[in-house]
Amino acid sequence: MTLSLWGGRFAGGPADALTELSRSTHFDWRLAPYDIAGSRAHARVLHQAGLLSAEDTATMLDGLRRLLADVESGEFVPAPEDEDVHTALERGLIERVGPDVGGRLRAGRSRNDQVATLFRMYLREHARVIGGKVLAVVEALAGQAARHPEVAMPGRTHLQHAQPVLLAHHLQAHAWPLLRDVDRLRDWDRRAGVSPYGSGALAGSSLGLDPEAVAHDLGMTASVENSIDGTASRDFAAEFAFVMAMIAVDISRLSEEVILWATAEFGFVTLDDAFSTGSSIMPQKKNPDVAELARGKAGRLIGDLTGLLATLKGLPLAYNRDLQEDKEPVFDQIDTLDVLLPAVSGMVETLTFHPERLEELAPQGFSLATDIAEWLVREGVPFRVAHEVAGECVRVCEQRGIGLDELSDDDLADISEHLTPQVRTVLTVAGSIASRDARGGTAAPRVSEQRTHLRKQIAVA
Ligand code: ARG
Repeated sequence: MTLSLWGGRFAGGPADALTELSRSTHFDWRLAPYDIAGSRAHARVLHQAGLLSAEDTATMLDGLRRLLADVESGEFVPAPEDEDVHTALERGLIERVGPDVGGRLRAGRSRNDQVATLFRMYLREHARVIGGKVLAVVEALAGQAARHPEVAMPGRTHLQHAQPVLLAHHLQAHAWPLLRDVDRLRDWDRRAGVSPYGSGALAGSSLGLDPEAVAHDLGMTASVENSIDGTASRDFAAEFAFVMAMIAVDISRLSEEVILWATAEFGFVTLDDAFSTGSSIMPQKKNPDVAELARGKAGRLIGDLTGLLATLKGLPLAYNRDLQEDKEPVFDQIDTLDVLLPAVSGMVETLTFHPERLEELAPQGFSLATDIAEWLVREGVPFRVAHEVAGECVRVCEQRGIGLDELSDDDLADISEHLTPQVRTVLTVAGSIASRDARGGTAAPRVSEQRTHLRKQIAVA
């Protein structure tokens, strides 16, 4: 049965080409359970407003219940003539309860307020799923940090050796942004959990329906203040898309490091067989495909976000059909992260770190030069002079091909009168790390305290 939603005004049906273009069921069908939940709530307020008899309400609710079961079992699917999920489900309801009862449901609502509400419901539920999977990556990072509480590694800026840090500190540095992403989702939910149902096409409903009752029925905190805003705005989708893209970018930065760490040149980690791939031609290869796909897919999620923003930028109020293009980008982000995140948490969890290699490289590249400068400052030397003196130490060592700890007492004295042999107390990786013991620093007690805070946040996230 073909069911047109606007038969009266039109002499003929749409051209095939328009039907093809218009159809969105291949991507919006996933909203079906939410649409039915919305319809149930709507039927109740129609009844409350005296527009649907108790008997018709019962028939309608039962029909909707059967329709949901048939959608879930795959018994009921969209037909090629159904324009979108809403059209298909109205047909399904009418097939089940007849046109007299089924045809009453559309009073006082429009697909415009319907879709804006369902989309929010869908995103809220999936935000929780994605958030849980992000937390699994955070857990994996915290777990690796806990297994290597004292291992030092070269900390870098500009990818150059900078100062030694604890591996645990570095791993936890990847965990915090991901926790903030989860926090962003929670904060976003507060704005997204507002229901446009009852906004109608744009101007609100004249039928005495109660939008607040529908909102609460659908698990939202309130209904929208403004029906035009309710039907036309998609900033909730754009903000969601930003957080998805940010998660992908944070995962991509972690992945880039795993890729580097797994090279022979770094040699910091070995990937587990279960989370790496081989080559069809080179028998020796073990490739970090999970990390590379993560890095690659970040580009795709950024594209989804910018595509959505571009869709929105020129739209006058209120609803425009362009808005049908709002769903695929975010659905793509959700689908992508849904499979990507478990692979990333598995990869991180199963990484084997090589502490000897990390520790061997920690002092290289004169990474203790800052410690000399700061030791001098503690001796009362102005930092400008201290920086010069430490730099001179590096220059001498570089010329002679030796390390900072190999400068003799005489070498030190030649460079500066302030450099007594006492300076050697800070010329060890362990000493350097232990000295950075202010809040947020890399000293082991601070890093372990930080991990406790991290775990507390995971627990409440
Ligand atoms: N399928 C449309 C969407 O996703 C909703 C339909 C609104 N269409 C309309 N002609 N008012 O945005």
